Amino acid sequence: MLTHTEIKDLLQVSLQEGEKKEVTVKAWVRTKRGNKYVAFIALNDGTCVQNLQVVADLKTEENPGGFDEELLKRINTGACLRVKGDLVKSMGKGQTVEVQARDIEVYGEADPEKYPLQKKGHSLEFLREIAHLRPRTNTFGCVLRLRHAMAYALHQFYHDRGFVYLHTPIITGSDCEGAGEMFQVTTLDLENLPRTKEGCIDYGKDFFGKSTKLTVSGQLEGELGAMALSKIYTFGPTFRAENSNTPRHLAEFWMNEPEMAFYEIEDNMDLAEAFLKHLTSYALENCMSDLQFMNDTYDKELIGRLENILKTNFERITYTQAVDVLKASGAKFDYPVEWGVDLQSEHERYLVEKHYKKPVIITDYPKDIKAFYMKQNADGKTVRGMDVLFPQIGEIIGGSQREEDFDKLQRRITEMHIPDKDMWWYLDTRRFGTAPHSGFGLGFERLLLFITGMTNIRDVIPFPRYPQTAEF
Ligand code: 4AD
Ligand code: MG
Repeated sequence: MLTHTEIKDLLQVSLQEGEKKEVTVKAWVRTKRGNKYVAFIALNDGTCVQNLQVVADLKTEENPGGFDEELLKRINTGACLRVKGDLVKSMGKGQTVEVQARDIEVYGEADPEKYPLQKKGHSLEFLREIAHLRPRTNTFGCVLRLRHAMAYALHQFYHDRGFVYLHTPIITGSDCEGAGEMFQVTTLDLENLPRTKEGCIDYGKDFFGKSTKLTVSGQLEGELGAMALSKIYTFGPTFRAENSNTPRHLAEFWMNEPEMAFYEIEDNMDLAEAFLKHLTSYALENCMSDLQFMNDTYDKELIGRLENILKTNFERITYTQAVDVLKASGAKFDYPVEWGVDLQSEHERYLVEKHYKKPVIITDYPKDIKAFYMKQNADGKTVRGMDVLFPQIGEIIGGSQREEDFDKLQRRITEMHIPDKDMWWYLDTRRFGTAPHSGFGLGFERLLLFITGMTNIRDVIPFPRYPQTAEF
């Protein structure tokens, strides 16, 4: 049985003046200060953003039972301790309780000459270089607890609505988004590749007997699930080898993709809006002390922005309307806007932050800038795609109603030169019992940018992967 109590729980205890409670804590030292009579040690075990203050009386002539100076010397920022003592009401400012130490064991020292997290307020750039230690800072404690809370709330949302969590593969033979930004998976000897008679690489000799990649999306397999179980969702890592060094792109990121049979685009939009509101309200109801820390430290408008999302109905416009608004705006953009171009983050943020001042869902994009599987509109020019745009972030969700008609889908696959030898199993859903269906993909780290108020996506995942970086 565990004999220690976590700091989050200790800080909830309310004590009368003079009342004591024997406790054991196990945690890392954040700071130590004091004088030759007493040391104040701030401990944090990651269960909450607040520290627990430990008071250790030093050995003096008047207090022969106090702690040795030698022991205190081993207690520095970063060290790990087990402290037994009495939890008492605190006389000091900033905490309601503290621990009067009676016995301290140093589990692990941290050399003050070498431990990199000595002071407060390290830059986020510096912390990225020590991603193996940054979970020990207040900021990353908050971010990682919020990340957990959002994953939990995500499962809760779908589970409560009867969705089945479908585990789609990470290794795949097909390129769902057709953007050709995939990492290859192989066991072939790169120094000595087997060749066919024609001189091509012989993937028949590779592990799976064909060329395989890391998935960019679980959608295609998700659709197979929806065509049997009605409502499914995926949640897992996805990989994109796009060489974009932006604060919104990672090479490995987590995506959540619900896929629903019998949902039209409007139902898809309703679900996406309810989902984002559920996640936001979960954070506000359950994670206030972490949100408050992020609000005070990084973004004074964070909590207000989260509260606002719950109160507004997302604006729903078509791509054509969005282009009209942007062209009429008179704003200067780095990328000029014309019907047919892909909207850039500057355009998306103009619509959300300047024009509508709330989240915007754009639908009915030109077919040439969207993936092959989107349902084609009767105009022959647009498809039933939808992007959800958020303040500060831009695109947070991308989705669509899917083309359920076999012939139309097949024609699009041919037009877009997608090798149909890889697509027969996907097309089988349209051959056998096809049905209207829709779905979307939420970029989990983009959501976390919104929830935490952080501005760089590398700071909302424990171990970010981006070009030239996969150290930790
Ligand atoms: O818009 P995307 O490419 O859509 C799909 O992959 C569809 N298969 C989803 C579906 O309909 N089931 O990606 C979905 C979301 C984007 O809106 C964005 O939030 C996020 O994934 N995303 C990324 N996040 C971090 N780094 C990247 N490189 C990302 N690329 C996309
Ligand atoms: Mg997209």
